[in-house]
Amino acid sequence: EKGGHDYFMLKEIEEQPEALANTLRGHFDGGRIILDEQRLSDQDLRDVDKVIVVACGSAYHSGLIAKYAIEHWTRLPVEVELASEFRYRDPVLDRDTLVVAVSQSGETADTLEAVRHAREQKARVLAVCNTNGAQIPRESDAVLYTHAGPEIGVASTKAFLAQIAANYLVGLALAQARGTKYPDEVAREFRELEAMPDAVARVLGTTEQVRALGRELADSKAVLFLGRHVGYPVALEGALKLKELAYMHAEGFAAGELKHGPIALIEEGLPVVVVMPSPKGRAVLHSKMVSNISEIQARGARTIVIAEEGDETVRPFADHLIEIPAVPTLLQPLISTVPLQVLAAEIARSRGYDVDKPRNLAKSVTVE
Ligand code: F6R
Repeated sequence: EKGGHDYFMLKEIEEQPEALANTLRGHFDGGRIILDEQRLSDQDLRDVDKVIVVACGSAYHSGLIAKYAIEHWTRLPVEVELASEFRYRDPVLDRDTLVVAVSQSGETADTLEAVRHAREQKARVLAVCNTNGAQIPRESDAVLYTHAGPEIGVASTKAFLAQIAANYLVGLALAQARGTKYPDEVAREFRELEAMPDAVARVLGTTEQVRALGRELADSKAVLFLGRHVGYPVALEGALKLKELAYMHAEGFAAGELKHGPIALIEEGLPVVVVMPSPKGRAVLHSKMVSNISEIQARGARTIVIAEEGDETVRPFADHLIEIPAVPTLLQPLISTVPLQVLAAEIARSRGYDVDKPRNLAKSVTVE
């Protein structure tokens, strides 16, 4: 049942191309993006003037990633908030606010309460969920199911990638309804998403080197993760995986914040994982990251750099270089996350931990 793997999580990491393909399947037809159980009309989508994503943990990170794409495609303001904070605030909402509740299980107590809190204030709620008929989709106005299949490992992997893809579909559906993207542009974005399962499969074919690195890092005291733009939430996700699986101190930072404090943590030999943007994307993002890596390397950090194949500029600054295929900037999180999952799982295994059942954690957090 673990498909030849010692742990469900490792099988679920391998299943990611399929999880992504299944999540996208059927959502583009007749030249249009289609959402499931769509009890929101095109007019409702056109009326949306603000999007708020509410979620916990990795699902929250999927929202942080999607914010970049949804704002870019729709020109709508997008807020992303931890459900446990949102539910106790007095957020500014009305019927033109679209609240997107992202939850693999569909049963997370804080996310469910956030949905109720939003509906009381007449906001429309769209659930992005991996579990048919769960409570969150039942209490929402519309549902977009991720079809990642059952996720048994406590740490989210394939459901997380599926959440990113589903959030992107929400963004494209809004862009289509609002006319902020021409139909051929929506079609092109969808085709680019559809190419991602193959890109993930390619990354999965090159993880041996990441596992070897994981074994080398097993005795580290702490690992830092740095990213910028969509790479920033990827850094947060990489750190969360390492905390929960390897019980190691790990923190993700926005690279631009280094000088505002975190650079003081850098010392000789400290592993720092850096998620590099594509050199073919926005040049300024890339060059800023190169200077961030050179700064931490100059202070003795052991740099582990995830970068696009053929990115020669980062080579001199990378103590370990993990190459990933070239993909559009907004889609890079779908592949840059994968080596971070593998790294965390391998460090945890080298330390002798059960990666399917990390201590103190439950798969579905139905108590607060
Ligand atoms: C991390 C992880 C958790 C969940 C969070 C939300 O690997 O699995 O952080 O992402 O508990 O769970 P769902 O998506 O079921 O609401």
